[in-house]
Amino acid sequence: MYTLKLDIPQFLQEYWQKKPLVIKGAFPQFADPISADELAGLACEEEISSRIVVTKDHDWEVIQGPFEDYDRYGESHWQLLVQAVNHWYPDSQPLVEALRFLPDWRFDDLMVSFATPQGGVGPHVDNYDVFIIQGEGERRWTVGDNTPQHPRGGNANSPLVEDFTPIIDVVLEKGDMLYIPPGFPHCGETLTMAMSYSIGFRAPSQQELVSEIADYLLDNNLGQQRFTSKTEASHPGIVSQASQVGIMSLLSQLSQDPTQYQIILGKLLSQNRFELDICEGEEAYSIEDLQDAFSQGAGVSRIGGLKVLRLEHDATPRLFINGAVHELAHTPTDIIAQLSDNVCLSADEAIAMCQHEEVQHLLLQLINQGLYYLTDDEA
Ligand code: SIN
Ligand code: CO
Repeated sequence: MYTLKLDIPQFLQEYWQKKPLVIKGAFPQFADPISADELAGLACEEEISSRIVVTKDHDWEVIQGPFEDYDRYGESHWQLLVQAVNHWYPDSQPLVEALRFLPDWRFDDLMVSFATPQGGVGPHVDNYDVFIIQGEGERRWTVGDNTPQHPRGGNANSPLVEDFTPIIDVVLEKGDMLYIPPGFPHCGETLTMAMSYSIGFRAPSQQELVSEIADYLLDNNLGQQRFTSKTEASHPGIVSQASQVGIMSLLSQLSQDPTQYQIILGKLLSQNRFELDICEGEEAYSIEDLQDAFSQGAGVSRIGGLKVLRLEHDATPRLFINGAVHELAHTPTDIIAQLSDNVCLSADEAIAMCQHEEVQHLLLQLINQGLYYLTDDEA
């Protein structure tokens, strides 16, 4: 259990998406949820996204994982970064839970890094919010203001930016946390062998949104409406202002109809950018197997990173899970809420929920798809 010492209403009002904040002692008695060795082991796996950044004189070299051994990197000047550790290492989930005062749809992943002295990824800007929690060791962080930054060395392809004037310059120690909103340049430098935990939150871009809308319209053969006009321009070569506005309003019409946009948003926001650790069993469970398991005290849990979302004022009762829609027309709203808010269900909770046939079938389906799994103990 990780207890965050933070005035959440004040944080949301003054800092969230606005300005960076250092929270010294955010997690008193912080214990690293994963060891450096275990992290190094995860970075050997093909399906897990990892990279090593080596600090050179005035440069940073990025090597993509998976890795076989780390001997050649030595004792200093490098950092290992592993994405979506919460998908592959269930013991890291409690740390993620500490930041669930923010909605799941925004949550991206837990990235864990192991850094040797002088290791770091270099000065850069992210387009997402990040909370950097310091575990073992110490790292010095500088954060600049959110003014436009210049690509490092004038190289437009570089993810790095030129050095900036810090508005924050702090050494993070075990249990400290640094919050950085999108657009603020920052740079971490490692003082002693360190583990750090970056919990990232991102919202969809216009590109992602438009691509999801296009998929939805094509899949459902919708969006056939065309622009019609009452008047035309007097010159043949001109596209009138009224036509420009009218054509573009075909798009905004889509965004004004909840029966269209809710399904698009539910699917888009419940997807995950990183591979999930799907745990499909060899043989499918039956309803009876499920009932037996619950009556013998098994609980049920969703796999790490799985998003189970409901939409406020949704047109129909349903859940969006990993990009799929699950209609729950006969299920009470409080049960739908429990399913989307709770990562784990105890045996008693699962038994109570399975009184609703739709929910029983949904749980069975999700377990057989490897998106939920039975837990030994009561959760
Ligand atoms: C790091 O831990 O150095 C990278 C995290 C970040 O800058 O977002
Ligand atoms: Co960053």
